[in-house]
Amino acid sequence: MAVFSDRSKLSPRYIPRVLPHREGQIDRISRIFDLQDPSRSHLTPVQLVGDVGTGKTCTAVRFAEQLVQRAKERRTNLRHVYVNLKLQGGSRVVLYRYLVEKAAPEAYSGSMSSEELIRSLVNHLLRTKTYLLITVDEIDYFIKHTKEHLVYDLTRLNELSPGETCGVLGVVFIARGKDFHSLLERSEVSTLGRNVVDFPNYDAEQLFDIIEKRSEEAIKPGAISEEVIRYVAEITASPPVKGDVRHALDLLLYSGNLAESQGDERIELEHVRKVHGETYHLITREDLLNLPEDRVHVLIAVIRALKAKKVAYVTMKDVRSSYQVVCEEMNLKPKIELEEILQDLRERGIIEVPALTKIGISGASAEKIEKVLDEIVGG
Ligand SMILES: Nc1ncnc2c1ncn2[C@@H]1O[C@H](COP(=O)(O)OP(=O)(O)OP(=O)(O)O)[C@@H](O)[C@H]1O
Ligand SMILES: [Mg+2]
Repeated sequence: MAVFSDRSKLSPRYIPRVLPHREGQIDRISRIFDLQDPSRSHLTPVQLVGDVGTGKTCTAVRFAEQLVQRAKERRTNLRHVYVNLKLQGGSRVVLYRYLVEKAAPEAYSGSMSSEELIRSLVNHLLRTKTYLLITVDEIDYFIKHTKEHLVYDLTRLNELSPGETCGVLGVVFIARGKDFHSLLERSEVSTLGRNVVDFPNYDAEQLFDIIEKRSEEAIKPGAISEEVIRYVAEITASPPVKGDVRHALDLLLYSGNLAESQGDERIELEHVRKVHGETYHLITREDLLNLPEDRVHVLIAVIRALKAKKVAYVTMKDVRSSYQVVCEEMNLKPKIELEEILQDLRERGIIEVPALTKIGISGASAEKIEKVLDEIVGG
């Protein structure tokens, strides 16, 4: 029995056209950017700040689309580049390469240094009268990780071309909180500016509206009741999830899968209860789908080591030898910075490292994570 009409609409990567309860935020960001005369406007930094799963990324992406569309109507050439520093931000130069390649491939050369890349980009924008909006996601993660002065660079781009505007209309920084400010220099905090748009955690009512809309797109009419949607909303609004929409999407997906596998025509409270009880954990599918490849391989090694030893924690030595085997099997060159990768997995909340020699998996059972990893490696 099919419960879903389009399962992909529950994917965390899918962004619905309308985002209920984020109209106010989109409005606020829109008012910050002036398209009247972009040739006179100066680089405007904006910060979007809110807890996990409060819709910062999807709002930023939708906003940028709208702005590009409005620019088009005014015959202004505006491009948007979205950068997720968890994915593309090993260091500044990695980030700039990505940025320039996306924004202006003509201005890109693999041999350029950070400074050359940025200068080349700005020159290109000015020459071709192109404007650029940059969204820099997970800035807090990047700053905590690298301590590089990215904010300084990005907010001072206009100083590369004194007297002129630099072609970069604005930079939208996205962060889970403001605690990364303490790692910035005073001048950086001040250039970040006062344009802060808050993303409060969704409450149960708001989640109900959001989940109802997403269900309409993904689930067959009649295959889910208002009561079930309300239950998913309540679970998602309560601690420890506290409003992360991704959990609601995961719950719907897994409950629907369960219903289908049992031959049921509808998602019932029972399905949600069962899935919630069994698979509830703080790591979502998206956290795993977003892992860089080298992290995936190391995580596979950790899980295998844990399974082989049948203990809660394994040692660094266990992980190292398990990693060696994984690399041999997959024909990979083992990374030497294994410890740094483990540290990163810990910071992402995926593994636990309570002591130097103890490595474990938090919350989720290793098997659940393994299933998603199989999906990644297999496809
Ligand atoms: N108002 C909304 N309507 C529909 N879907 C939403 C809404 N807000 C969030 N979502 C969905 O929830 C998921 C998480 O949203 P998003 O990625 O924007 O969160 P975030 O604030 O960037 O979280 P994080 O800090 O973890 O990156 C996405 O799949 C998104 O489509
Ligand atoms: Mg995000």
